[in-house]
Amino acid sequence: MLRKFCDQENIVGKRRILVIDDEYDVRNTVAGILTSKKAGYDVVQAANTIEGLDLAQKQSFDHIISDIYMQPEDGLQFLKKAKDAGISANIIMMSGQADIDMALEAIKIGACDFIFKPLVSEHLLFVLRRAEEKTIILKENAFLKAEIREKYSFHNIVAKSPQIRHIFEVIQRVSDYKTTVLITGESGTGKELVAKAIHFNSIRAKAPFVPINCGGVPENLLESELFGYVKGAFTDAVKAKKGLFEEAHKGTLFLDELGEMPLALQVRLLRVLQEEEIRPLGDTRCIQVDVRIVAATAKDLAQEVNKGKFREDLFYRINVLTIVIPALRDRKEDIPLLVDHFIERYNFRLNKKVEGVSPEVMHLFLEYKWPGNVRELENAIERAMVYSDTSIIRTRDLPPHIRTGLEDESAPPTSGLDMSDFSIKKSSKILERELIIKALDKTKGNKTKASHLLEISLPALLYKMKDYGLEG
Ligand SMILES: Nc1ncnc2c1ncn2[C@@H]1O[C@H](COP(=O)(O)OP(=O)(O)OP(=O)(O)O)[C@@H](O)[C@H]1O
Ligand SMILES: [Mg+2]
Repeated sequence: MLRKFCDQENIVGKRRILVIDDEYDVRNTVAGILTSKKAGYDVVQAANTIEGLDLAQKQSFDHIISDIYMQPEDGLQFLKKAKDAGISANIIMMSGQADIDMALEAIKIGACDFIFKPLVSEHLLFVLRRAEEKTIILKENAFLKAEIREKYSFHNIVAKSPQIRHIFEVIQRVSDYKTTVLITGESGTGKELVAKAIHFNSIRAKAPFVPINCGGVPENLLESELFGYVKGAFTDAVKAKKGLFEEAHKGTLFLDELGEMPLALQVRLLRVLQEEEIRPLGDTRCIQVDVRIVAATAKDLAQEVNKGKFREDLFYRINVLTIVIPALRDRKEDIPLLVDHFIERYNFRLNKKVEGVSPEVMHLFLEYKWPGNVRELENAIERAMVYSDTSIIRTRDLPPHIRTGLEDESAPPTSGLDMSDFSIKKSSKILERELIIKALDKTKGNKTKASHLLEISLPALLYKMKDYGLEG
């Protein structure tokens, strides 16, 4: 594998280096070492960071070697700008002063290495060689990760645990039949994701997947949503409305939180399932529907039947094929894959370049009980990525309750805030993001109303939403 990448580098041709230094003599010496027959690099020179950044944005380089002390802008400022601009070349800083703090600062910002002047040609070439090896390993790593992801994912569900791999097989087998499927599992285990996989893996994939949450909706509203109504069916029915059963014709209706469905509606649902036709409210006609039902519940339906909250006949009609999704703590081998999956998702959404989590973070993730399952893991990673300014997520980027291994009850109300970190800048970013999410939640996504609540202008809200990856 390693050879494969080395060969690829060679095919591309000579490796290119940009050298930025305000001293003509230093630039020339460095260029001399690098273009020698032994080294064999192509070198481009820049006399200051402005010129250097411009070149780095227009051309592609394998490495950039930049001095630190320069006018009008120093090498660290250049480094920050280059990282913000997403320049992928290895950046090696050099300085005439053996300042260890400065070197550490440069590495923290993202420098690949640091060398002191006067330059020793052997040392310079060694540093470049080491950077190249690291690039090869990173590429190889990304390649292997992509390969693993492909192997272990099915319709956006990432898993390697035998329990979920078995669910993949069940989905493959049942998708094309019209059999009703009941999906159970704790909150955040991926019930909706499995429901979608069943639909999109089936011959119904081109017809709609229509989800409806049966919990938290008043009974009459749920009824009119499901079955539709004709004009004048009730006072507010100023025009006819198609029900979701009709919308889902030839497709799949996903009845989420079915355990919450009021008893009276359960009777109507059972009738539709048996007769495959619906009658909109106020209508005299029945409409034939061809709909596959997938239902989900976090409750134990058999227990609900015992308590008299769920009809026994509907339970037997629905409980033909049940998929039980295990809690995340019972399939810990999925955690590393999910971590990579979410880092990739939020790198894209937040425009970040996070490479992974530290071994300590992974250890905490594997120990933690995840009462909110995969959703909680996803939220923890998203927050850590907003919070972190390094390429590796560290324990200090995690909410305190995960760090201490305690479950969510112990978390402060603004659980993303880290009370032991005193950075006002970081904490206000987290707080600001959480307030925006809350305001959008409260106004059901109405940005103008949310901007009033937040007491900022609409353009400012739109800008911040983009910055925090809250669009769409
Ligand atoms: N195996 C998985 N691979 C990738 N993403 C997953 C996986 N399981 C869950 N997720 C993600 O976790 C989040 C929660 O999943 P989902 O909404 O399907 O859970 P749920 O069981 O329906 O939760 P709830 O009971 O709270 O409604 C989603 O963002 C989903 O994409
Ligand atoms: Mg759900």
